[in-house]
Amino acid sequence: MARPKIALIGAGQIGGTLAHLAAMKELGDVVLFDIAEGTPEGKALDIAESGPSEGFDAKLKGTQSYEDIAGADVCIVTAGVPRKPGMSRDDLLGINLKVMKSVGEGIAANAPDAFVICITNPLDAMVWALREFSGLPHNKVCGMAGVLDSGRFAHFLSEEFNVSMRDVTAFVLGGHGDTMVPSVRYSTVAGIPLPDLVEMGWTTQEKLDAIVQRTRDGGAEIVGLLKTGSAFYAPATSAIEMAEAYLKDQKRVLPCAAYCDGELGVEGMYVGVPTVIGAGGVERVVNIKLNEEEQAGFDNSVNAVKGLIEACKGIDSSLA
Ligand code: APR
Repeated sequence: MARPKIALIGAGQIGGTLAHLAAMKELGDVVLFDIAEGTPEGKALDIAESGPSEGFDAKLKGTQSYEDIAGADVCIVTAGVPRKPGMSRDDLLGINLKVMKSVGEGIAANAPDAFVICITNPLDAMVWALREFSGLPHNKVCGMAGVLDSGRFAHFLSEEFNVSMRDVTAFVLGGHGDTMVPSVRYSTVAGIPLPDLVEMGWTTQEKLDAIVQRTRDGGAEIVGLLKTGSAFYAPATSAIEMAEAYLKDQKRVLPCAAYCDGELGVEGMYVGVPTVIGAGGVERVVNIKLNEEEQAGFDNSVNAVKGLIEACKGIDSSLA
């Protein structure tokens, strides 16, 4: 059986890391697409030359032609610009919306059956726009943010509790921005919810609140340190986890920016929610119950995303 084909639209920091991970995990053959001449070709060749040491057989190709993504099983989109210190993800809207139009059209024309994972920011609005421009089914287009935000939350919690990250299940809802909602009640260590761990004296409410805030600011913390770009190792790893769930029909329960059709009270838009990812793409949105405080935080986040979608419609009348 032929290896699956993975198209990476954008061969920058995240795109290159995605290609390396996909090859090392032998998820499939990789096509790196970018408008920057030489960048995708150079990264493809460099990674291919690591094959003999790593022992993978995956083929890698760099290209400026959308025709080379023909028949891709998975497309992961990072095309666009990342933020610089002092910028919010929302500041990228105007530039990256134009990029989503060309990418959406390129995917629709060449890989209409692919499972599409968008990473470009501002995430929830960009994945909505990418879906609109591509016309692909809603369940085949989603955005990577929840796995990353939850990973950041889990990492900070494992440090606080001095336990293995494998035993921490953390979970972040809402838009991938300042209003995201790290869920304390649904996050656990070996099944023990965080509020119980506060009662058990493993941490204090103040420390937990600080971890929640650090999670919300997780992207900005890295931007501030790197100064020339945004995070790329953890974002790439998170998207690969989602791609693998699709390619291997794992039915993983992963938070991602998914299209909601009434779930969690959200109608007709993309926002971060728990989902089941398998061979059908986003097979289910897990319609969890929120308490009053969580619902208020989630609604606030949904409204922020709605504002960005309206801004997109204002910029590109074909979306209105
Ligand atoms: N089509 C294809 N590629 C494009 C296009 C386009 N229309 N416009 C820009 N690109 C490419 C750039 O040439 C660059 O190589 O997208 C790549 C983006 O790479 P980086 O600048 O290194 O950004 P990266 O860190 O990978 O982040 C990409 O993901 O997390 C988000 O906020 C981040 O929106 C940003 C995206």
